[in-house]
Parts: sequence; structure tokens; C-alpha cells
Amino acid sequence: MITIEIDTKTCKGDGKCVEVCPRHLLRMNEKERVPEFISGGSDMCINCGHCFAVCPPGPIKLSTMNVESSTPLDHSKLPDARQVELFLKGRRSIRAYKDEPVTKGSIEKLLDIARFAPSGINRQPVKWAVLMGKEKVRELGGLTSKWMEELLTAKSPMAEGLGFSILVETWKNGDDRICRSAPCIVIAYGLKEDPMAAQSCLISGTYLELAAFGLGLGACWAGYVNMAINMSETVRKFVGLSPRANAGACMMIGYPKYRYSRIPLRDPARIIWKT
Ligand SMILES: Cc1cc2nc3c(=O)[nH]c(=O)nc-3n(C[C@H](O)[C@H](O)[C@H](O)COP(=O)(O)O)c2cc1C
Repeated sequence: MITIEIDTKTCKGDGKCVEVCPRHLLRMNEKERVPEFISGGSDMCINCGHCFAVCPPGPIKLSTMNVESSTPLDHSKLPDARQVELFLKGRRSIRAYKDEPVTKGSIEKLLDIARFAPSGINRQPVKWAVLMGKEKVRELGGLTSKWMEELLTAKSPMAEGLGFSILVETWKNGDDRICRSAPCIVIAYGLKEDPMAAQSCLISGTYLELAAFGLGLGACWAGYVNMAINMSETVRKFVGLSPRANAGACMMIGYPKYRYSRIPLRDPARIIWKT
């Protein structure tokens, strides 16, 4: 249960908090002209914090967050439209890394940003597993390659369709096309039974990738590893996930060896307009 406290001296009674509440759990107290929970509202609150975040003077205090515990948002510090466009279009999947380890502090910083990704009903169901160092990543690559080989031996159409044979062959020749010899792998996972977890993990992975670009790191989705974690008990156990969990995003992380100086072309957006 979440409780709400209003500083009646600073509350302007403008009702912005009432309007932005995604579940319509607030109303204006007619007598005092301050917001209050509707009956049962505190139990249904999803703790998204929109009510206090939309109000500049900060008269709203939730039992879970308040002005003192949150970061002010200075809109003049945000990138402008052109910068946002260049940033999003200029991100690339990074597969060639400098021979330089990634620190725990850098990963913590990335995850601190990625935890602000949207999640269904603000459930924040995403958890993380991190494999630090080339050695650990190499072990994961080896287990993934072994899983691929087993599927190829069993004549799995999926393994043949996804080109596992070349990945296994190159792995055996010391060329890691599975984890790209990355110095770190970050896995976003959630509970299989949670209907919001898979999409939330994907979005968190995307936030992580963009955050890496912003902080001078490079990231690339490790799609084969993701499949291996969810389909092979050995690989799942190796990364430390319980049988109830599914990996929803796997990212290789490292310092980019090269800098891209152009934005490659992409297909035009395919749109159905209904007007
Ligand atoms: C779900 C998903 C899985 C991917 N898996 C891999 C992978 O296993 N290995 C890899 O090198 N790149 C992987 N990629 C990266 C794509 O190849 C890459 O996004 C695409 O070629 C476009 O390049 P860009 O990201 O630089 O725009 C994956 C991307 C996505 C979205």
C-alpha cells in the first residue's frame, strides 16, 4: 500500500497530478482543493511517481518517493531534436572491441540507466545477470557452440536455417562469431509466467545498448546466446538463471575498437496510414 502526503501550503490545487495518474486513482478534495486517493486508490497505485514528478513545487510526498529522493529534470540540459536524431541513427552494433576490460562500475552505470526503461504496469520485472571478463564470455561461447552442434547432429531445421554450422566451424577454428570475444555479456531476464517480462527485457536491452553508446562503450545483441540460454539447461545453469526464468535480452559490451563516421542506409518506414 502506498500512502500520499500533501503539503497544503505549496499545493496549487491545479489538478495536474489527478490528470496524469495512469489509473485515475486521485481526485481533488472539494473542500481543501488538494489531491487525495480515491477509495482503494492506495492499493491500486503502481508507484510510477507521475503525480509528484509533474508538480514543480513538490507538495506531493509518496511513501515510496519524494522530491528529496529524486533527480530534478532540467529540460534545458536535454539534447535537441537534431542531436536526438543523430544519436539514435548513429548507434551501431559494435562487434570489434579494444583489448580492454570493462569495469564493474561501468556496467553498474549502464544498468542504473537501463532500469528507467518503461515496463508494463510499472512492474519493473527485469533482472540482470552479468558475465565479466573474456574468460567467462569464452566459456559461454563454448557452451553455446556445443548446444548448436547438438542441434545440428539432431538435424534440427532451425539450426540449419540459422546457419549454426558455420558458427560452430568458426568457433572451432578460434574465431568467435557467437560472442565476438567481448569482454562482458549482460543478460536481461524475467519470469516466464510474467506476461510483461519479455517485452520489458527487450526494451531494457535497447536502453542498455543506447546507454552504452552514450557512455563511450559499444554493445551488440547476442541473439544466439539468448536462444541457447532459453533452450539449453546447461547454458541456462551456467549463467545462473532458474528454470522459471527466461532471458529476454543478451548484450555483448566492450570498448569500441573503431569509430563509425557515417550512418548506413536503412529501408524506408513501411506505414499503414488510417485517416
Ligand atoms: C534480436 C537481435 C538479435 C541479434 N543477434 C545478434 C548476434 O547474435 N550477433 C551479432 O553479431 N549481431 C546480432 N544482432 C545485431 C544485428 O545484426 C544488427 O542490429 C543489424 O545488423 C543492424 O545493424 P546496426 O545495429 O548497427 O544498425 C542482433 C540484433 C537483434 C535486434
